[in-house]
Formats: sequence, C-alpha cells, structure tokens
Amino acid sequence: MSGFDPHLQQAAQASQHLDAHLCFDNLGKTYEGAHGPVQALRDIDLAIARGEVFGIIGRSGAGKSSLLRTINRLEQPSSGRVLIDGIDIALYDEDRLVALRRRIGMIFQHFNLMSAKTVWQNVELPLKVAGVPREARQRKVRELLELVGLENKHAAYPAQLSGGQKQRVGIARALVHDPQILLCDEATSALDPETTQSILGLLREINQRLNLTVVLITHEMAVIREICDRVVVLEHGEVVEQGPVWRVFGSPRHEVTRTLLAPLQHALPARLQERLHSERASPEDDLILRLHFTGSGLEPDLPAIGAALGGRVTLLDASLEQIQGHAVGHLILAVDQSPFDHPTLLDNLRPLADHLEVLGYVTAA
Ligand SMILES: Nc1ncnc2c1ncn2[C@@H]1O[C@H](COP(=O)(O)OP(=O)(O)OP(=O)(O)O)[C@@H](O)[C@H]1O
Ligand SMILES: [Mg+2]
Repeated sequence: MSGFDPHLQQAAQASQHLDAHLCFDNLGKTYEGAHGPVQALRDIDLAIARGEVFGIIGRSGAGKSSLLRTINRLEQPSSGRVLIDGIDIALYDEDRLVALRRRIGMIFQHFNLMSAKTVWQNVELPLKVAGVPREARQRKVRELLELVGLENKHAAYPAQLSGGQKQRVGIARALVHDPQILLCDEATSALDPETTQSILGLLREINQRLNLTVVLITHEMAVIREICDRVVVLEHGEVVEQGPVWRVFGSPRHEVTRTLLAPLQHALPARLQERLHSERASPEDDLILRLHFTGSGLEPDLPAIGAALGGRVTLLDASLEQIQGHAVGHLILAVDQSPFDHPTLLDNLRPLADHLEVLGYVTAA
C-alpha cells in the first residue's frame, strides 16, 4: 500500500492555497493587437507564499511582464483571477485599488526616476501624493535612504548617480508605503555584474528583514540562482515548468528551460564537440555521458560510477555548486572499452545519478 491518501492530499492543497500570499487562478490575458487578438497568458495556476522570492523566466514575449502586471492591476485579466491574501483583486473598488497599489512596490530596469528632483525628493514624492504629513515623510525618507545606503546622496540628482545608486533610489521609493509585495521587472538588467550582486544583496536583506514577498523577472539566470526560492518558466503564455530553483536548475525538464540555462551550463570541450555524433559508428567509439546531480541527497559516488561503467572512464568536465543548500552539479564522462553493452551500462548507471543524458559518441582519436 502506498502512502497516498487523496483526502490528505486535498487538505494539503487547500491549506497551501490558504497560506498563499498571491494566487493566479486559471488566469488568461488576451490583448487586442494591431493584427488581431494576441493571447499573452493562458491557464496560469500558481501560488506564491508570503516571504518567498519567486522568479519568472522565459523567452522574450513569453508573457512575463503581462503576468507581473496583473498583480497590481496594471493589466486586467481576460479570464481567471488574481487573489491576494485569498481575495480576488478584480472585486476591489477604486479606493481599495489605490490601497492595494500602495501595498505593492515595483522597480524597473530603467529606474523611472524624475531627473529634475533630488534623491530625497524622488523618494518623498509618493508620500506627498498620498498626503502623508511632513514630519512622517521626513522620518520615512531618512529611514529608507539609510536602508539602501544612500544617506550621503540625498541632495544628488539622478544624473549624478551610478546605475546601482539609481536602482537603490528606485528600491527606496518602492518601499515608502511599507509594501508587502515587491515586483521587479528586469531590475538588474542595466547593471554590471558587481553592482547586480550588491542590489541582489539588498533585495535579499529587504526580503528577510521586512518579510516581503518578491516576484522577480529576469533574463539573467545567475540572478535567479542567487536569490530565488522558486522559479516558473513561461513559454507562449503558458507555464512549462516550475519548482524550487535547485531542482529546476539542477535538472531542467523542459527544452525551453534548458535553452535558457545554457549560458550557465558547462559545454563539452570544443575539440570533442567537433567530433561528437549521435549514432555509434564503430565499437571503438567512446560513449559520452552527462550525469546530473540535483541536490536530492544523491552525491556522486565515484567508485560506484566507475564500476557501473566498467572499462576506461575519462572525466571531461564536472561542476558542483550550492543552490539553497543543495549540492547541484554534473559530470561529463567518456567511456571506452566497457565490457557492458550500452543499454546494460545505462541501466547500471541510472540509480547513481538524478538524471542521465547520452550526449553522443566520439570516434577514438
Ligand atoms: N499592450 C499590448 N498590446 C498588444 N500586445 C501586447 C501588449 N503588451 C504585450 N503584448 C504582447 O503580449 C505578449 C507577451 O508580452 P510581455 O511583455 O508580457 O512579454 P515578456 O515575456 O515580458 O517579454 P520581454 O522579455 O521581451 O520583456 C507579446 O507577444 C507581446 O507582443
Ligand atoms: Mg517584459
């Protein structure tokens, strides 16, 4: 008897649903384009927990920004619902919508700062608009500039700041109303790698200190690996893969995910890549294998792998890194002169890795 109990499972799903800070329920979005309707999102079902850093990835045009913008109703769903704390935000009247938007901060790739206003004035403006009294405004702006490390730049104008400093102003401004959700659309794309790291550090700190739920879009996979808890992959407006970052990055299932992650993946050495073919041409050919370890608890057991392969095994490439405390990595091996036929060899090997790929065959030099 397996431990599967449909009632327990249902209850677990229901409670997960209740705990969700943000929920997309069968969400669809169709735009009226110049050449007819464009279906940007379809059948999106996702739950994001409070305090989670949630990443959205996908090719250009996949629907990432459209999805993000439904959270603060910058876009209206064409079908389905967006729930925040279990409430369908489409039901909000104007007043509640204004309040909702204050509870949601947003930062952008190009910072969207007012060039004729100082750092201080940029952060203060939304508080002024909201009618917050002067003293409370000053307290808040001072506190936030300190949080983002810009106390000394309060009188500077955006043109006098670096990209990283501008994004810090953007972050301070997004936090003026003590939001519970922070939306980031390509917030680090205009920054160099070192500045990106410092902004990610700041986002992580804010997430933990303020228990903020962060939803983040990026084309930089290293950003997802660095700070996200879970990630969803969109393609043509649909979810094609989702899960904890260590699992999705450790063993991407969908072809789109693999393509997106290619920049992070180690390739076969060029001298072998040129000679790689998918069919075995002669019994002398070396078999080239990639073993994935996804941090599931299975560690590369080298003697066992050697025994499973038999013959002569050459290590061509390997990596091991920590993602969210999970050891995620891979081995690329060439196998020569194995006493086993290839199906047997693959069967031997399967229990020793989380995922196994035959990359091809290389004719012995
Ligand atoms: N206002 C609009 N009117 C018509 N079509 C739109 C509109 N906004 C977006 N689209 C279309 O919807 C689809 C999804 O767009 P979206 O901006 O959500 O993609 P994205 O994943 O954010 O892309 P990118 O990575 O390039 O920012 C695209 O085909 C886009 O052309
Ligand atoms: Mg976009």
